[in-house]
Amino acid sequence: TTGYITIDPGFKNTGSTQSAITYLDGENGILRYRGYPIEQLAEKATFLEVAYLLIYGELPTQTELKDFKESITNHTLVHEDMKQFFEAYPSQAHPMGVLASMVVSLSTFYPESQDPNRSSEAVDLTIHRLLAKLPTLAAMSYKNAVRHPFIYPKNELGYVENFLNMMFAMPTEDYKPNSVVASALNKLLILHADHEQNCSASTVRIVGSSQANLYASISAGISALWGPLHGGANQAVIEMLDKIQADGGDLDKWIAKAKDKNDPFRLMGFGHRVYKNFDPRAKIIKKAADDVLEQLGVQDPALDLAKKMEKIALEDPYFVERGLYPNVDFYSGIIYKALEIPSEMFTVMFALGRLPGWIAQWKEMIENKEPIGRPRQIYTGANERDYVSIEKR
Ligand code: SDX
Repeated sequence: TTGYITIDPGFKNTGSTQSAITYLDGENGILRYRGYPIEQLAEKATFLEVAYLLIYGELPTQTELKDFKESITNHTLVHEDMKQFFEAYPSQAHPMGVLASMVVSLSTFYPESQDPNRSSEAVDLTIHRLLAKLPTLAAMSYKNAVRHPFIYPKNELGYVENFLNMMFAMPTEDYKPNSVVASALNKLLILHADHEQNCSASTVRIVGSSQANLYASISAGISALWGPLHGGANQAVIEMLDKIQADGGDLDKWIAKAKDKNDPFRLMGFGHRVYKNFDPRAKIIKKAADDVLEQLGVQDPALDLAKKMEKIALEDPYFVERGLYPNVDFYSGIIYKALEIPSEMFTVMFALGRLPGWIAQWKEMIENKEPIGRPRQIYTGANERDYVSIEKR
């Protein structure tokens, strides 16, 4: 602290805003979207219902949900010119980077999204376009990575089914919808839909606070989510489990590495800034992983290894005294793998789920007319000194 400024690295003890969207209780493992417990929404709601709830504040009536779905269905296509944007990317380009650049490019096609004085109808159109097009852009980034032809959206399919078809269908044959896969994906998207002021949501808010348009703000959120300490953890968990397996599966050795301050290795999928007890989403996903793998008849040694790791860690004082429990990313990769979603797309799945939460946070920030985010600092650099000409340096 100096004068009136207190430094709070990582904002661990700083509240950036007041929000009515999501409630977290880290001590008791409670998560509610607009007051509804995550356990009930994950079991009973559809992802689009939850998206509507987060963005507009109430569960939609049947008419509101029908209109919301129709508006989204009518905007799933992206401008044909965007196909050549994809073709500029080499196949090794990570889908998160491709997606972030495609989303910010949407503002090129929809100039009304850049008008700070736009009407509420124009805001809704921008929001519905984004909810409609992100799955299309996500599937296109995957098809581009595997060099397969793009599959167009199909308006007769539901939101999740349409995404699966664009991901896995080929021009020669449609994807055979599997209700187990679709319902598992619906649940996973709901579990990822919002999480108050996490790193990527704070990024969306601060970019939006300069009146940059919604597409630019969401693109910034996608970039923040990409990091392995945030949404990138779900891909890092699977890579960690594969590495441990390839190394002979000696969990004690790797858990010792995770505890060793001189070793940069951390247990990916463990720990959380807010939950210092269990992450309620991890509990739901762990059960869903058992159900989905059984229903699909999939045996995955990574799941058995993950459960063993969880058991050992939760009996280890190092993790217990630091409140390190499995988080939302610990089991989600195992389900995505069972759904045959490739690991480089795991964080894209997180972005698809988190999109309505980012939109809700951005909308609340705009409606509350919050000022541009501009924190101060404590200066620790050189005192005043005079310029030295190049001849004397
Ligand atoms: C998400 O914020 C959100 O809500 C995020 C999210 C969302 O929905 O938006 O929930 C999604 O990002 C989940 C988190 C996914 N990330 C990972 O799984 C990566 C592994 N986890 C860690 O990097 C870490 O736990 C964080 C980043 C999640 C939280 O970091 P913090 O709150 O800054 O905690 P910290 O780094 O200060 O760690 C506290 C202590 C330290 O030890 P000491 O200095 O006290 O001795 O715990 C240790 C850390 O070394 N620690 C770990 C660890 N996580 C923390 N040790 C081993 N393995 C780990 N995973």
